[in-house]
Amino acid sequence: MRKNIVAGNWKMNNDLSASKKLAKQVAKLVRKNKVKGTKVIIAPTSVNLERIAKLTRKSKVKVAAQNMHFAENGAYTGEISAQMLKSIDVKTVILGHSERREYFGEDDALLAKKVDAALANKIEVIFCFGEVLADRKAGNEEAVVGSQIKNALFHLEASAFKNIVLAYEPVWAIGTGETATPEQAQDMHAFIRKTLVDKYGAEVADNVSILYGGSVKPANAKEIFSKPDVDGGLIGGAALSADDFLAIVQAF
Ligand code: 13P
Repeated sequence: MRKNIVAGNWKMNNDLSASKKLAKQVAKLVRKNKVKGTKVIIAPTSVNLERIAKLTRKSKVKVAAQNMHFAENGAYTGEISAQMLKSIDVKTVILGHSERREYFGEDDALLAKKVDAALANKIEVIFCFGEVLADRKAGNEEAVVGSQIKNALFHLEASAFKNIVLAYEPVWAIGTGETATPEQAQDMHAFIRKTLVDKYGAEVADNVSILYGGSVKPANAKEIFSKPDVDGGLIGGAALSADDFLAIVQAF
């Protein structure tokens, strides 16, 4: 059975004291509201990961990294390896975010290597992809998303998908306040699941959680999450407020 997941991607926000404060608030709200049946993840900046992982260890909140290098170690100044994440008890990583693709030149081939490195180290991957506005305007969104998934993931064995969560984030909806309609999200999620069915069969496809990301807020989360192929959300701006984030968690 696939899981409901709500993950907060803090991006390059929150210094150490702000990260600790927000993580504590989220953990407290999750406990107080007895959140059940939804996996809650927060992804602080890498320099604060160890502290936040320790701080949330006894809570139901899991911690994810926002990025990772594909190599085990070596001369890659400024980078962080899967093994390093594992050594501080971080067991989930976000890969392929559109900001990584756009500002840091990450392409499908590089992401395939990162996915392999994460899985080899037993780190769960939240794999992001999505079309830009020009693709959607031209009616190419399914072709773009299909090729992003195939190029980065379809070299994997079926069993690898136990440790993969997919996150559809249309680039035109990220940080813009413009959300995909629940129907647009559902249509794309159904297409993604069908793409998985065609390659790996229904059992694998049915068990993969597919998250939607892009201007999810407390006001629109319920309707988006009510769609049958939407298994949760990857939240940016609204994850920086514990109350808003919890309201989204509770939208299920
Ligand atoms: P916003 O929720 O701020 O649109 O960001 C979405 C996102 O990029 C999450 O990874």
